[in-house]
Amino acid sequence: MTRVFSGMQPSGDPHLGNLLGAWVNWVAMQDTAECIYCVVDLHAITSPTDHDPSALRRRTVELATGMLAVGVDPERSILFVQSHLSEHAECTWLFNCVAGFGELRKMPQFKEKSEGKGESVSVGLFDYPVLQAADILLYHADEVPVGDDQRHHIELARDIAQRFNHRYGEVFTLPRAVHPPSGARVMDLQDPTVKMSKSASSEKGIVYVLDDPKRIEKKFKSAQTDSATDIRHDREQKPGVSNLLEIFAAATGREIEALAADYDGQGYGTFKAAVAEAVIEMVRPIQQRHTELASDPGEVARLLGVGATRAAEIAVPTLRQAKDAMGLLPPGVA
Ligand code: AMP
Ligand code: TRP
Repeated sequence: MTRVFSGMQPSGDPHLGNLLGAWVNWVAMQDTAECIYCVVDLHAITSPTDHDPSALRRRTVELATGMLAVGVDPERSILFVQSHLSEHAECTWLFNCVAGFGELRKMPQFKEKSEGKGESVSVGLFDYPVLQAADILLYHADEVPVGDDQRHHIELARDIAQRFNHRYGEVFTLPRAVHPPSGARVMDLQDPTVKMSKSASSEKGIVYVLDDPKRIEKKFKSAQTDSATDIRHDREQKPGVSNLLEIFAAATGREIEALAADYDGQGYGTFKAAVAEAVIEMVRPIQQRHTELASDPGEVARLLGVGATRAAEIAVPTLRQAKDAMGLLPPGVA
């Protein structure tokens, strides 16, 4: 059976982009693959500017709760918190001695995030993709569902696996990235030329999974469109309307063309209200389940404990094998 691994950072409240671009796909993959999903808190501490310990703790719980609420099934899949397994950090060290300074320096995300920060950038930010490689390779993942911006990180994981296997013997499985269809890219409601993101979007342009219905309605009503009134899908000429149509289609499971035909001629007001309604209906059961889970933090903690135990059953022997292959002396042997 195909094994899937993916992770998300607890570094902001989950929004419609996370839901439609990642989680919906994560949930669906559980039907055909053995899935491992991780709250990557060690990655979240690589940017010291937004590292607030109490916020990190809260967001870690909230992200895990959100994953359970959307339908990550702890019976079929493994859901756990990265820092609960010291193997991730330890494996990163082994890979640090395999990865090259040059290839890490060229990573587009590192270049972007370190730009203008001079010497104050953390070594952790530089090493971020190596930790990500450890996440993936410790579990022998075949497929890694991620946004397009993560392409280079998955390629690096593949390169590290290949180099390690070549130098020390076959230990790691070569992973491949799987990207959601381009329609799963949710754009900012106020500026539909940039993607909805916790760092770039204004509060009005971003719809959170846990926003109440009134707020969701307000955000869609004030979504940026254009001065014409026709409703059709055309990302170039009509980025705002196209984004709304894509969200509408994702929320209802209907075809974009059919929705456009239904609403063309009715005016933007009616159209936006219908999109808002569809999104409210989509998130309603998620929010309900979230409220239930959040009222029982002991249960979430228990599920994460089970997840960590099951993750360790895979990660511990993999790390042991890697250390043996590198010639690190096992304890009790001389
Ligand atoms: P981030 O919140 O930036 O850490 O993103 C976590 C994951 O959510 C990414 O790897 C993407 O798969 C997905 N994602 C984030 N923002 C969007 C978006 N605007 N549209 C589609 N997918 C997104
Ligand atoms: N870097 C990923 C992101 O920002 C998160 C991540 C960490 C991840 N480890 C991973 C994704 C392993 C897939 C597999 O989206």
